[in-house]
Amino acid sequence: MKRVFSGVQPTGNLHLGNYLGAIKNWVAMQREYDCLYCIVDLHAITVPQVPGELTDNTREVTAGLMAAGLDPASCIIFNQSRVSGHAELAWLLNCFTPLGWLNRMTQFKEKAGKRRDSALLGLYAYPVLMTADILLYHASAVPVGEDQKQHLELSRDIAGAFNRAYDVDFFPLPEPMIFGAATRVMSLRDGRRKMSKSDGSDYARINLTDDADTLALKIKRAKTDSEPGLAFDPERRPEAANLLSIYAALADEPVERVAAEHTGMGFADFKGRLADLAIETLSPIAARMRELLADPAYIEEVLTDGAERAHAIADANLARARQIMGLLGD
Ligand code: TYM
Repeated sequence: MKRVFSGVQPTGNLHLGNYLGAIKNWVAMQREYDCLYCIVDLHAITVPQVPGELTDNTREVTAGLMAAGLDPASCIIFNQSRVSGHAELAWLLNCFTPLGWLNRMTQFKEKAGKRRDSALLGLYAYPVLMTADILLYHASAVPVGEDQKQHLELSRDIAGAFNRAYDVDFFPLPEPMIFGAATRVMSLRDGRRKMSKSDGSDYARINLTDDADTLALKIKRAKTDSEPGLAFDPERRPEAANLLSIYAALADEPVERVAAEHTGMGFADFKGRLADLAIETLSPIAARMRELLADPAYIEEVLTDGAERAHAIADANLARARQIMGLLGD
């Protein structure tokens, strides 16, 4: 069966972009494929973290994934640092990754900003660790949001470089799976910027933990444009297009249909409908998340069990990679 791998960082709240761009798709795939979903704590530490907060966030994201519908009986849920093969394979793959490839990564450029010299090596090598995450399990399908596309192209290049170096067909080339009506959810305050955890304003994003009143208020305050009725025109009217795409993804409908049904409708009326739909679909997730977080022992059990199952797959692949490279071991 096709193996699927994807990951999410435990840095703060899960937001609607994570949910619609990735997690909703993970849930849809969990019974059809052999899926591993990883809380990538080793990626989180590429920027400074407060230890206690990292621990809490790891538990919270685990609860969020299950509240959104991931079932540990149908997929493997675990945190990355518990399976040491991620770091080990990342080192091996560092030795097949030219600096020029990493220099092209736009996410690094954005995060490092002008202070490239003080940016950390971990942040720079981040996409190699991401490649290791996927290749460690020989996963070939990777469901992600649009923003991860460049990293996945790099992972294909690195897998190819390894295979060519040893004339083997060992690592499968990872295939990005970017689907659904909202592969790039934009900020509610600026339709040209991505919704993200790091946005200074909480009104820019919808968190999976937001209660009904907060959801309604955030949607009501979402930026609009000055044209009289709605239309789907992402280039010219990004805010309207974003709200329509969010609606379509939440309703599981094609955006074209949602756009056709609401063309010409005023923003205020549409926002009312969107708020109702968001409350109906997201409030049960928030409630379930609170229940799960009240039982940390269960979350611990899921992560421990997930790590054990992940280990078993990882160890065999890592041993084979070592062997191909001529590294002595048992
Ligand atoms: P992260 O934690 O930033 O985001 C997790 C997932 O959510 C998607 N996403 C979005 N989708 C649509 N609109 C948005 N505004 C939005 N914001 C985030 C991301 O595309 C992602 O799928 N590097 C990854 C984690 C990772 C990973 C991996 C993913 C580590 N190793 C291996 C796949 C395979 C990241 O930082 O995701």
